[in-house]
Amino acid sequence: MKSVILLIDCDRNYRQTCKIVLQGFGFEVVTAETGLRGAILATENSYDLIMMDLRFAEIPALELLAFIKCKSDRKKTAEIKKRCGDLTSDSLNRNTPVIILTALKTDEESELARQSGAVEVLLKGVDNDVLKLKIEQAIAESATSVSYPHELGDGIFLGDNPVYKKILNFIDKIAESNKPVLITGESGVGKEVIARLIWQKSSRGENVFRVCNCTGVTKEMVEDTLFGHTKGAFTGATSERKGLLKSAQGGTVFLDEIAETGLDFQAKLLRALQFGEIQTVGSDVVEYVNVRFLAATNRDLAKEIVQSRFRHDLYYRFTFTIHVPPLRERVDDLPRLASYLLTKAAVENLKPVQVISDEAMKAICAYTWPGNIRQLQNALEYSSVMAAGSEIGKDDLPDYISGVPRADYQPQSLEEIEKQAILDTLRYTAWVKTKAAKILEITPKTLRDKLEKYKVVQPVPVGKEEVKEDGAAADDSELDGEGEA
Ligand SMILES: Nc1ncnc2c1ncn2[C@@H]1O[C@H](COP(=O)(O)OP(=O)(O)OP(=O)(O)O)[C@@H](O)[C@H]1O
Ligand SMILES: [Mg+2]
Repeated sequence: MKSVILLIDCDRNYRQTCKIVLQGFGFEVVTAETGLRGAILATENSYDLIMMDLRFAEIPALELLAFIKCKSDRKKTAEIKKRCGDLTSDSLNRNTPVIILTALKTDEESELARQSGAVEVLLKGVDNDVLKLKIEQAIAESATSVSYPHELGDGIFLGDNPVYKKILNFIDKIAESNKPVLITGESGVGKEVIARLIWQKSSRGENVFRVCNCTGVTKEMVEDTLFGHTKGAFTGATSERKGLLKSAQGGTVFLDEIAETGLDFQAKLLRALQFGEIQTVGSDVVEYVNVRFLAATNRDLAKEIVQSRFRHDLYYRFTFTIHVPPLRERVDDLPRLASYLLTKAAVENLKPVQVISDEAMKAICAYTWPGNIRQLQNALEYSSVMAAGSEIGKDDLPDYISGVPRADYQPQSLEEIEKQAILDTLRYTAWVKTKAAKILEITPKTLRDKLEKYKVVQPVPVGKEEVKEDGAAADDSELDGEGEA
């Protein structure tokens, strides 16, 4: 699918020429002949990129830019919407990259435009190849980064589950710290939701939240995406790239799926995490960034470390670790979470208020939800559409919930299930056996007996000696893992 660019420029000749050039690059182009027309189009539709001039007759360009990037205050936003004929739709997305293309610019204007959210400020005579590269880079960068409005904090279900509550209390304590946080948990448990909460509760909540999805780019490109490159750093590097870290100064960077990165890159990340030190690809100069690092993984990092796929020294750079429990361990929250997600789905599907029948709720509670909250959300979105009336019946649920065994179901003996539960709990408590026994509601002695019976031994902790400087590891597995929720 072609990327769509909105081009806002009052100069008719330039608009037409530029449109032809952009179409020649393979983009679809929508044009606006005035700043206010640009504001209307940007509000009514979403675009992959917006290109705009710095001079408009009827609105200061920086005001328009701030509006497009959702950076205007409420009063200004309302004023601009009123001038555009009382706009009601709102497709504005602060994440849409904006490039300024102007005939005249001062350094001060360029700086102000950047502060207002422009990714590039270019002169109209810029070389076509450079223009194409800048556009492609801006679109690619915005695809790997997402920023969220603060209000989303309210769309989070908190629940009463003691483990989840403990995580929320822990977040209150650590939000203000600038130290890195690692969030672990199965796919779909809400790791990104937790990352966003930390950001919102921190004093950096007013600043950017940038996401680097480490699986979304190739292993080689992760370094380039985060650290940027100098012009000529490698073949094809025809211009410099700022990199996500430098563009997130003062903000928070979320490294999603961090275990998917290569060992070389992980080595480079060490100093960034500890001292904010970075080196642009192709440069010898060490620079400093002021960002808070959050990261997530659904892999078992202990296993990754043993198999030399994740650096133990990087693991211990994370001062705080949060393990988000799978949904099957939050069954106490399941009925209310399901009702909450159904209401959200009904609102989105423009359906009247819907409720879950007792029979359907029983099936929901009996299911194990391997895909966690995401799977539950999808199932309820499906059911919300399927239900003829205002009640979700058992038959409205996807087949995999309503009694038909899961395709990936593996028959297991009770002993196998018990052994697995013990292992999972021990991993969850970082092998603190007293804690594990408490969660399993058995005595420490019973736990010891079962470990012996099932021949379960703690894996050799990797590289503990090396990390003593961080104070993050303790040799006695009966001690509490520091900073662990
Ligand atoms: N506490 C919550 N309240 C409401 N919705 C939630 C909550 N936690 C997670 N979700 C929803 O569940 C879905 C998955 O959440 P999220 O993307 O944060 O999970 P994840 O652990 O990062 O998953 P993955 O490992 O697959 O990337 C999202 O749609 C999110 O909105
Ligand atoms: Mg995620």
